Amino acid sequence: MRPETHINRRREEFPTLASGIHLLSHSLGPVPRAARESMNAYVDAWEHHTSEDAWATSWWEMSEQVGDHIAGLLGGPRGTVQIQPNASIALSSVASCFDFKTSKRNKVVTSALDFPSMEYIWDAQQQVGARVQVVPTDDGITIPLERILEAIDDTTCLVALSHVSFRSSYRVDAEAIVERAHRHGALVLLDVYQSAGALELRASDWEVDFLIGGTIKWLCGGPACGYLYVRPELQPDLQPRLTGWVAHAAPFDFAHVPMRYDNSVRRFAQGTPSIPALYSVLPGLQIIEEVGVKMIQAESRRRTEWMIDFALERGWQVNSPRQVKDRGGSVMIGVGRGPQRGSPARVPDDGPAMVNRLSEQKVFVDCRPGVGLRISPHFFNTDEEVREAMGILNELI
Ligand SMILES: Cc1ncc(COP(=O)(O)O)c(C=O)c1O
Repeated sequence: MRPETHINRRREEFPTLASGIHLLSHSLGPVPRAARESMNAYVDAWEHHTSEDAWATSWWEMSEQVGDHIAGLLGGPRGTVQIQPNASIALSSVASCFDFKTSKRNKVVTSALDFPSMEYIWDAQQQVGARVQVVPTDDGITIPLERILEAIDDTTCLVALSHVSFRSSYRVDAEAIVERAHRHGALVLLDVYQSAGALELRASDWEVDFLIGGTIKWLCGGPACGYLYVRPELQPDLQPRLTGWVAHAAPFDFAHVPMRYDNSVRRFAQGTPSIPALYSVLPGLQIIEEVGVKMIQAESRRRTEWMIDFALERGWQVNSPRQVKDRGGSVMIGVGRGPQRGSPARVPDDGPAMVNRLSEQKVFVDCRPGVGLRISPHFFNTDEEVREAMGILNELI
């Protein structure tokens, strides 16, 4: 491995790291110590509020503040992110902006490597007139860029894909996809759940229309805090049918219809924001901001490259892209019996058993059907930990 960098790993701020080698950032990031204080601050505030002034004095703005922190990490300006209950609702909010029934532009392009929510939500939109084209994968790991680009035509209203796949860590070329989609008058949504906090994202530069994700994984923020980024110029054109009183321009007027959407990104909200979730995410976001996604990305590349080389030298099946430009922060390793190097991904039945055996040795990873182990070094992992985890896996294999 190339020499260790001078990154501040902030390890003492994550009590969970004392339990073993945490390589699970694609699934559940470790809780920052400060999250406990933040949650206590929430209960204190709750205890002291005796009227609706809780909203006026802090809670209303908090959603906006957290949104602005996330916008920065996505490479977007302030006022572009609305907090959502989770990424699936964020996607449903976007889906509810389209008129699939009466418009001739009703095709949605998705991919076979997306998270299941994507598949379920778009499948359901077929009942209201959407035509869905799922771009297939041949190897279960990647999708040729040309195949995605070819699927985009003048009837496409939206291209909705994972930026980095939860299954294989395959990363799509955001800029090329946005360029082609916009040329054909289509919009682009990227699910950045597996890339935000691990890679440097450039929402403004890419001119991407929507980003969705959540905080539980690479952002060390815990559950139940999703987010939706909407390109600023696009915001006023959209009227999500998945809505609620918080999206209204004057929510405390409690007015009757017609709905008057707010002029800000709050028009993509629904009901009461999940205040505890907002308190829980702030410490993690702050740590990620301070360490810096540029630095985190460089660390991720250095370690995932080493892990892939380590695996290939031993003839293991690597179910993630070899090229760093095509990859997110995870490395997937097939641990089933069967064909090895160069063969297509197959069902690695030994995945769950291997996860348990690694866990007994205090190495925490998980697995997914068809790709095997998912292993994710994040900024807080030392090189020594990464080496030790791969050494233990070597012994077990
Ligand atoms: C890429 C990706 N998208 C979406 C989700 C699900 O998000 P949520 O549970 O917030 O709807 C996950 C969760 O694992 C994911 O990895």
